[in-house]
Amino acid sequence: MTEAKKVFIKTYGCQMNVYDSDRMADILAREGYAATDRADDADLVVLNTCHIREKAAEKVYSEVGRLRVLKEQARAEGRQLEIAVAGCVAQAEGREIISRAPAVDVVVGPQSYHRLPQVLARAKAEGHAVETEFAEDKFDHMPASGSARRTLPVSSFLTVQEGCDKFCTFCVVPYTRGAEISRPVSRILDEARNLARRGVRELMLLGQNVNAYHGAAEDGSVWSLARLLRELAAIPGLDRLRYMTSHPRDMGDDLIAAHRELPELMPYLHLPVQSGSDRILAAMNRKHDAASYLRLIERLRLARPDLALSGDFIVGFPGETDADFEDTMRLVEEVGYAGAYTFKYSPRTGTPAASHEEQVPEAVKTERLLRLQALIEAQQKAFNAAMLGRRIDILLEKPGRLPGQLAGRSPWLQTVHVDAPAERIGEIVSVVVDGMGTNSLFGTLVEEMVLQKAIA
Ligand code: 5AD
Ligand code: SF4
Repeated sequence: MTEAKKVFIKTYGCQMNVYDSDRMADILAREGYAATDRADDADLVVLNTCHIREKAAEKVYSEVGRLRVLKEQARAEGRQLEIAVAGCVAQAEGREIISRAPAVDVVVGPQSYHRLPQVLARAKAEGHAVETEFAEDKFDHMPASGSARRTLPVSSFLTVQEGCDKFCTFCVVPYTRGAEISRPVSRILDEARNLARRGVRELMLLGQNVNAYHGAAEDGSVWSLARLLRELAAIPGLDRLRYMTSHPRDMGDDLIAAHRELPELMPYLHLPVQSGSDRILAAMNRKHDAASYLRLIERLRLARPDLALSGDFIVGFPGETDADFEDTMRLVEEVGYAGAYTFKYSPRTGTPAASHEEQVPEAVKTERLLRLQALIEAQQKAFNAAMLGRRIDILLEKPGRLPGQLAGRSPWLQTVHVDAPAERIGEIVSVVVDGMGTNSLFGTLVEEMVLQKAIA
């Protein structure tokens, strides 16, 4: 019997890359590859790259440099190590990667993963292969999600939409992931049912612009994200639904209503605003202003009063003045976030903002970032502290930090540690929050408390 080939997939960047890496593992499993978590033990290493921020390509080249040493070692031992670069850097750089780093065998863009086996075969025959075509629905040509794994996490990702037509002036996504594509309804429902049958209790629907979802149903109608969520909520076992990332412009009435009507839809929404200054929002081509964002938040909170919000912010966008930055601080004060991602603006080649003349000095960016982060951290802490003493439902997801502990998630995406046996992973249980760490909460099972009372 020939020994199974091994693949090591290293994932950078967003949740969509995590999902894509899993799907590449599924398709490679069909080709006889078992997953390994060590590069030096692998026959194939896939770097699933991210291009959203600075020096992404440089990081990939230095990682390939390290892998080249392993490749040479393998060759000396009479083995072969193939190197594949996937993801958004692969899409952006294409053949350039092979020219600069000839140790790379395969370059495969995010829309071509279904062709990975053929591309690998081509590389074997021709030395190298590059595939960066845009396909309709790559997932149609791949085995069922999760097929490479024996057990699935109780909370899983499911990509429903890819690409973006918004063209924010700082962002590479419309170029690397291409135009907006929604996966057909039936494919998503099949995948969700399959995951639910295998014990998945929570789905995080993914898309670069997920709330712009408009997928074709079999009867010829076009479904919105709200419609899709309603259908998913009816699948037995799927008790929790989330989605990210959303654009404020695509937050339709029906989606707001879904937050009111669907108990399965968790009360935590990632809704990036990027800036609180109308001038900067216009320069970013965000297609919304601060007031309309605040009105939207108000409507969402009317629909779901316990809704918590997170966002993305960029400081130091070209031309951002002190006054513009203060507008951002004010907006954050007004919204009150449960958490947020904050970034210094970094020019991305090929995007309109990169060639803007009024770039903000690094020191100013750093100062603004620190102030914004301090404010958001304080809000996050206050949000977590408000949970103390409350009874909440958590989904038990995995072993906790200490033996005998499990880690679960609150409806608001907080990690909650609780004493409970491993066989309860996958259950939704009630806990009373009785402690708070830097990044997580501690809770006691309500049933446990009843028992303690009875004994006392
Ligand atoms: N510079 C800094 N942050 C960026 N983001 C996207 N492009 C850039 C850039 N050029 C941030 C945005 C986006 C998040 C995923 O990354 O805030 O919402
Ligand atoms: Fe990038 Fe998001 Fe803007 Fe699309 S909406 S261009 S993905 S920041």
